[in-house]
Amino acid sequence: MKVLLAGGAGYIGSHTCIELVNAGFEPVIVDDFANSSPIAVKRIEEITGRKIRLYTIDVCNEEELEKVFKENEIGSIVHFAGYKAVGESVKLPLKYYRNNLDSTFALLSLCEKYDVNSFIFSSSATVYGMSEDVPYHEDLPTGCLNPYGWTKYMNEQILRDYAKVHPSFSTVLLRYFNPIGAHESGLIGDNPEGIPNNLMPYVCQVASGKLEKLHIFGNDYPTPDGTGVRDYLHVVDLAKGHVKAIDYSIENKGSIEINLGTGIGYSVLDVVNSFEKANGIKIPYVIDGRRPGDNATSYADPSRANKLLGWKAEKTIVDMCKDAWNWQKNNPRGYKE
Ligand SMILES: NC(=O)c1ccc[n+]([C@@H]2O[C@H](COP(=O)([O-])OP(=O)(O)OC[C@H]3O[C@@H](n4cnc5c(N)ncnc54)[C@H](O)[C@@H]3O)[C@@H](O)[C@H]2O)c1
Repeated sequence: MKVLLAGGAGYIGSHTCIELVNAGFEPVIVDDFANSSPIAVKRIEEITGRKIRLYTIDVCNEEELEKVFKENEIGSIVHFAGYKAVGESVKLPLKYYRNNLDSTFALLSLCEKYDVNSFIFSSSATVYGMSEDVPYHEDLPTGCLNPYGWTKYMNEQILRDYAKVHPSFSTVLLRYFNPIGAHESGLIGDNPEGIPNNLMPYVCQVASGKLEKLHIFGNDYPTPDGTGVRDYLHVVDLAKGHVKAIDYSIENKGSIEINLGTGIGYSVLDVVNSFEKANGIKIPYVIDGRRPGDNATSYADPSRANKLLGWKAEKTIVDMCKDAWNWQKNNPRGYKE
């Protein structure tokens, strides 16, 4: 079965593409490389030994996107294509609302026209807002703190509404927690431009000497060591969750929200210590003030994913730290040659 991966050249999409090939699916990547590189697709081909069908298209451009549906019998869609920098979304809300919503409208309109009934969406734990009710389970009330988060919230609602009036349609709204790590080959990984927003790419750049020290935002949270606690999961485990979600959507109709996380919370200092132990590299850090919009603790209740998808994260924090560093060390400039 052909699976359209919108934004499939990105961090999570590229890892998912590999797992789909491993599971016998035929991925078709559509990406405009706004935040990725064609080299990622070459690397996927190197890892899988398979030629990957690629369309360099802006997913929001429905006319161009239709070509993909005309030329391929698409059985399922995974929609990764979106901008994801929270800080930028506050400064440039229209850019985020346009891209992250128009991409969904274009895909759904073509689903309707070409009768595609399986749709997996990259949502986020950000939809739980500042809730202190951890672990987060899918029935908690949702609400967001920034335009990026609202695009996830709105996309979920659009997909739920679409599913209500298309009885053959199935959508799985995957709420990711904090993916880190990289493929064990060290050939693909997270490729942030400029100074990273997320902890692990930052730690890796400190380890490589590119950045001087890690800035930890707040050590006075009500957590065991005072630093923020998050649910980090290996990107390969996350990728495997998509394969299970596609299988589920083929068997079940309607819409469902599903957390993908380990259910374990690690603090910033836990991650730093694990990285140092796993890779034998010291990470110098300083403590800065809290960052607005960060909550103390966020981790998943992953029982719905266990039960409905038969999915469970398998890799450990040590695997995550080793694989992240392996990628960084082998590709100090990311995909730039
Ligand atoms: N990485 C995380 O921590 C995280 C957490 C929760 C949710 N998500 C969501 O998961 C999805 C994938 O995240 P990622 O980390 O792989 O991000 P990414 O930026 O690496 O991948 C997104 C891909 O989409 C492409 N893209 C963006 N807009 C496009 C458009 N209009 N047309 C075609 N391609 C387009 C980019 O070029 C990129 O390859 C995003 O929607 C993100 O919001 C990510």
